Amino acid sequence: MGKITIAIDGFSSTGKSTVAKQLADWLGYVFVDSGAMYRAVTLYAMRKGHISTTVFNKRKLEECLDEISLSFKKENSSSKAEMYLNGENVEREIRLMTVSELVSSVATISSVRVKLVEQQQQMGEGKGVVMDGRDIGTVVFPGAELKIFMNASADKRARRRYDELIAHGDNVTYTEVLENVRERDHIDTTREDSPLVKAGDAIEIDNSEMNLEDQFHIILQLAKDRIAGRL
Ligand code: CDP
Repeated sequence: MGKITIAIDGFSSTGKSTVAKQLADWLGYVFVDSGAMYRAVTLYAMRKGHISTTVFNKRKLEECLDEISLSFKKENSSSKAEMYLNGENVEREIRLMTVSELVSSVATISSVRVKLVEQQQQMGEGKGVVMDGRDIGTVVFPGAELKIFMNASADKRARRRYDELIAHGDNVTYTEVLENVRERDHIDTTREDSPLVKAGDAIEIDNSEMNLEDQFHIILQLAKDRIAGRL
């Protein structure tokens, strides 16, 4: 059966990566978390001292882009591919709030987007890919056979992210997480280059009141229909 490309976009902490990974595992497709790539570039610039809560040196950040090499690697066939920055596993570190606070500003920089979009398009060249992000159905794969746009209330999203961070031992408050979710939504939807918008042919799913299993089955059915050439 022919393989398709699946684009999952939406607001922060809507569970895009969770469902994208489930779908990729079920279909035997490659899963790509494009947000991890923006987070890894952000981490690199933070470590170099080019950006922080008080500094934002766009020129220096752009100058160091060529020093950054990103790759995804899996421990075994069932695990999630983890983010490697210049050969170092940074999967845990890129999820910290300190990175979340800066990533959306970094993602407004066009030269960063050009570099990452090019790599994402290469990863999806042979189809059979499920990629999640903000601009996958609009910019990275405008021809994707299935496009999903995920949404949920800001409160639900912040609650889910807060629980996740606490489980990982990150020292955050719910209010901080909610503010970060709202701020990133604002930056992501209002930036000039590739803002977060629902593609005209995307199917919107609000999962505020949906459990993971129901959400997976709805999206899996849509994928099966597209693969079979229906819809
Ligand atoms: O997982 P979460 O929803 O917190 O976000 P993410 O997918 O890890 O993405 C982090 C940030 O990277 C987003 O808030 C966007 O600013 C940016 N991003 C983007 O601009 N384009 C993408 N395709 C993916 C992420």
